Amino acid sequence: MSASISLKGKVALVTGGGRGIGKAIAKRFAEAGADVVIASRKLENLEATAKELAGLPGRVVPMACHVGRLDQLENLVRETEAQLGPIDILVNNSATNIGQGPSLEITDEMLDKIVEINIKAAIRLVRLTVPKMIERGKGSIINISSIAGLEPQPQGLLYSFSKAGLIMMTRGWAREFGPLGVRCNTIAPGLIQTDFSEYFWKDDKYRSHLEQTQPIPRIGQPHEISHAALYLASDEASYVTGQVFVIDGGMTA
Ligand SMILES: NC(=O)c1ccc[n+]([C@@H]2O[C@H](COP(=O)([O-])OP(=O)(O)OC[C@H]3O[C@@H](n4cnc5c(N)ncnc54)[C@H](OP(=O)(O)O)[C@@H]3O)[C@@H](O)[C@H]2O)c1
Repeated sequence: MSASISLKGKVALVTGGGRGIGKAIAKRFAEAGADVVIASRKLENLEATAKELAGLPGRVVPMACHVGRLDQLENLVRETEAQLGPIDILVNNSATNIGQGPSLEITDEMLDKIVEINIKAAIRLVRLTVPKMIERGKGSIINISSIAGLEPQPQGLLYSFSKAGLIMMTRGWAREFGPLGVRCNTIAPGLIQTDFSEYFWKDDKYRSHLEQTQPIPRIGQPHEISHAALYLASDEASYVTGQVFVIDGGMTA
């Protein structure tokens, strides 16, 4: 699929693009010719990723940004536009999974944090980028949710709630922005081998249960999410909006 899809001339912003799923998406986009800004808190990590991905058809530009800080998000969008031009593709990928454990132990601080990073950042970035997409009559928003947004994750009420929120936001934005040329879709991964999920895949019991019960009996890899992101970002997906793409080795089947 990736060989025939081109993002040449497009500009993408991928939050959390320095590692894991975000890095795989940034790489796929740059391979397809897009110029990509990767943004997260740790500039050093982003710079290492940008260096690793140098030489692809599209540029990969690192920019430090804490997605919970409005002034940093505003600066990120301003700088992206100044360096690369108007944003065609927004990938809301950064997330936290704090607050794992019994739901009665959730504190107000955990609740505020999960909303700030997993929900509010996406709403703010849409507010900052979509008006220009609408002006130009085109754009693609991709929200990285989770199968935890479809089924409650055990010991993960806050995370599930935030990921379910992203799915509903996706559908709302799809309806609102569709007539204006802007598409919005969600990818809902199952267990993918990254730092984020090591609690699960390093647990032998969990891993062996997955390998015995999941239709595709293994943990997924970040690049297996990136192909869907490339499709959704591209003009090939011109009739696709408001959808949830589940990529989970069949776990939810
Ligand atoms: N891995 C899985 O099994 C799985 C399953 C379903 C869904 N997902 C979703 O996939 C997305 C990517 O996760 P991943 O598995 O690739 O995890 P990861 O490798 O840990 O990446 C998470 C990224 O988010 C960034 N980030 C965290 N807090 C941030 C903040 N306050 N501001 C800016 N960036 C921040 C991190 O960079 P810095 O630390 O530099 O800020 C990092 O680049 C997340 O939305 C996650 O919920 C993952």
